[in-house]
Amino acid sequence: MPFVNVAEVGEIPIGKGVRIDRDGIALAVFNAGGGRFFATSPLCPHEEGPLAEGWLEGDVVVCPWHGYDFDLTTGRCRVDEDLAVAVYPVRVRGTTIEVDVP
Ligand code: FES
Repeated sequence: MPFVNVAEVGEIPIGKGVRIDRDGIALAVFNAGGGRFFATSPLCPHEEGPLAEGWLEGDVVVCPWHGYDFDLTTGRCRVDEDLAVAVYPVRVRGTTIEVDVP
């Protein structure tokens, strides 16, 4: 699937994420600051916690339920190496965040 418009830059505060549900697409999109954004599947692979409600520590998102954290560049969990979240390519065009969703 090509890149699709998922949000405007100003909709996501730095250090936070938002869940996007649109046209059958469900994502968590994060603002890491400096114009850098990341997108993942919306559910934590540990016990399906809401990753978009987590917080960022650098390029890592911490799940709000049990604190497992995930590198947003790779999706790999830093607490349990057997866990990973799907990550999707993101680009910013003007003020629009676009994600290459599967
Ligand atoms: S559900 Fe995310 S850490 Fe447990």
